[in-house]
Amino acid sequence: MTSNLETQLLALQQEGEKAIAAADTLERLEELRVNYLGKKGQLGALLRSMGQMSAEERPKIGAIANTVKESLQTSLDKQRAALEASQIQAQLEAETLDVTMPGIFCPQGRIHPLNGIIDRALDIFVGMGYTVAQGPEMETDYYNFEALNTPPDHPARDMQDTFYLPDGNLLRTHTSSVQIRYMEKEEPPIRVLAPGRVYRRDNVDATHSAVFHQIELLAIDEGLTFTDLKGTVKMFLQAMFGDLPIRFRASYFPFTEPSAEVDLQWNGRWLEVMGCGMVDPNVLKSVGYDPEIYTGFAAGFGVERFAMVLHQIDDIRRLYASDLRFLRQF
Ligand code: DAH
Repeated sequence: MTSNLETQLLALQQEGEKAIAAADTLERLEELRVNYLGKKGQLGALLRSMGQMSAEERPKIGAIANTVKESLQTSLDKQRAALEASQIQAQLEAETLDVTMPGIFCPQGRIHPLNGIIDRALDIFVGMGYTVAQGPEMETDYYNFEALNTPPDHPARDMQDTFYLPDGNLLRTHTSSVQIRYMEKEEPPIRVLAPGRVYRRDNVDATHSAVFHQIELLAIDEGLTFTDLKGTVKMFLQAMFGDLPIRFRASYFPFTEPSAEVDLQWNGRWLEVMGCGMVDPNVLKSVGYDPEIYTGFAAGFGVERFAMVLHQIDDIRRLYASDLRFLRQF
């Protein structure tokens, strides 16, 4: 009986130590601990049979059982420490940084020439105290024409034929519509700039596009005069093109009176670069401003035109072709 139990205990120790030494994960090690030393483990099961032993046998077997238990516990601790260390080692190896590895190539993006012009223009005017506003590209007839002193039968509408939507709305022909929307929301003094996309029913060729970009300028205050308009336009064009001769040529727009077109001398030729004028009193009235108190000036110019002049681009269509060979030049 005695020797039988003793043999069983020693066999258990041997088997257990072998299994523990072979355990390759912490989970497996925990399974073994429960299996051998846990409450319902194998060692406990053997010891429960000690109850039938004689008084002299019991201490002897008890002592052997204790050694077996301690020995298994030591093996478990040793194996746990080894597994933890190798886990850390593996993590360290997996996370090493190889500073000699070649980098990942990241192509450098560029600003599209049209955005480049818009950014520069906004910077210049923001420097003069202007804020930037936006309006919808799908407009009502009221904001695009009527409130800008251009009633339905007005001949100026011919030059700005656009795309009409089934519900009677239209795609805006100019950013001037933002003038009205802005003035309706704000009170003078106003210094605002409105960049955006505009639409015309034009046939596409080297200088025309059915979609293009404009930047609109509006200043409303007490006592603004044509001199303020001239000074502002001159400062802007100089910042944009350099110190070149400019001239104001009398023109006509329904929403300004007097109106002018601005020409810039570029490579020995007069180039028309923008329209402008003093805001027509009818426009001020349409937003509820008193034209006896307030005056103002407005201007509008095409972004494509500026880009084509500044970058010597010969065909407007290049600006929309998304041809990287072209775009990489900017
Ligand atoms: N809206 C005009 C156009 O599209 C440009 C323009 C001219 C805007 C005179 C203005 C202005 O604000 O005062 O041709």
